[in-house]
Amino acid sequence: MAEMRVNIAGVEWKNPVTTGSGTFGFGREYSDFFDLSELGAICLKALSVKPRQGNPSPRIAETPKGILNSVGLQNPGAEAFLSTELPWLRQFDTKLIANLAGSTIEDYVQVAEMLGDSVDMFELNISCPNVKEGGMAFGTDAKMIENVTSQVKQVSKVPLIVKLSPNVTDIAEMARAAEAGGADAVSLINTLFGMRIDVKTRRPVLRNNMGGLSGPAVKPVAVRMVYQVRQAVKIPIIGMGGITTGEDAVEFMLAGANAVAVGTAGIVDPYAWIRVRNGIEQYLNENNIADVNEIVGAVQMND
Ligand code: SIN
Repeated sequence: MAEMRVNIAGVEWKNPVTTGSGTFGFGREYSDFFDLSELGAICLKALSVKPRQGNPSPRIAETPKGILNSVGLQNPGAEAFLSTELPWLRQFDTKLIANLAGSTIEDYVQVAEMLGDSVDMFELNISCPNVKEGGMAFGTDAKMIENVTSQVKQVSKVPLIVKLSPNVTDIAEMARAAEAGGADAVSLINTLFGMRIDVKTRRPVLRNNMGGLSGPAVKPVAVRMVYQVRQAVKIPIIGMGGITTGEDAVEFMLAGANAVAVGTAGIVDPYAWIRVRNGIEQYLNENNIADVNEIVGAVQMND
């Protein structure tokens, strides 16, 4: 059997598959379907200092090969997470990644301080397109990325992943800014900013008008960006965007991802994470590859 362990910024995952933040909640619903210890890591729904109600409904719309969401970072807040969700999650033998949300740099710093070393890694959410302050507003400006990363890094007791927005002209520049700010890893892509209009009412389908597109429709954009980021930075990459099968995950790893996140696929198939993990293993075994790390960045580009 092929070696499936990966090391992401000093944290060993038993396999390269994690969950896309926001698509898995805190795992309770999916634990009815499979043992969450099967995952390399669980990346949790965003956490802010105070609870957030999120945006008004409708906040999900179907699109061809994807979904558009404007959830707006709904979450119970860091305190409720620590008292209610974390003790439950600790029964599983997997790594936990807290996704940090905020409207200001001080918010991000405060939530990182509140969580301390209660989880294994942080993922800095500077790429949510669904909030007026924070989120993508930070993640589309290289100077802001470097600044917020370095300030959160100063107080982080666990490795810091920075989640990048695809809604930029030059993704490599954004990744370099995160690395310069002290990021231990980057994850990409968050959702592509989009819109749907109901032709009968002539109104946007989402109450918040616009939202973030995820699912198989975004995969080629995500693979291209992972490849470009791999050329630009040395730190590990967690690749995501439309992964549905083991082969999709292998594509991301060949492009340069050290690990992968599955998100939207789990909404139609609650076993998607297990299928993807098994699919990667099958690819390795069928191709006589001893270690999953061997395929990272192994794409051979045409001249
Ligand atoms: C949301 O809660 O609006 C989605 C999360 C994100 O895009 O980061």
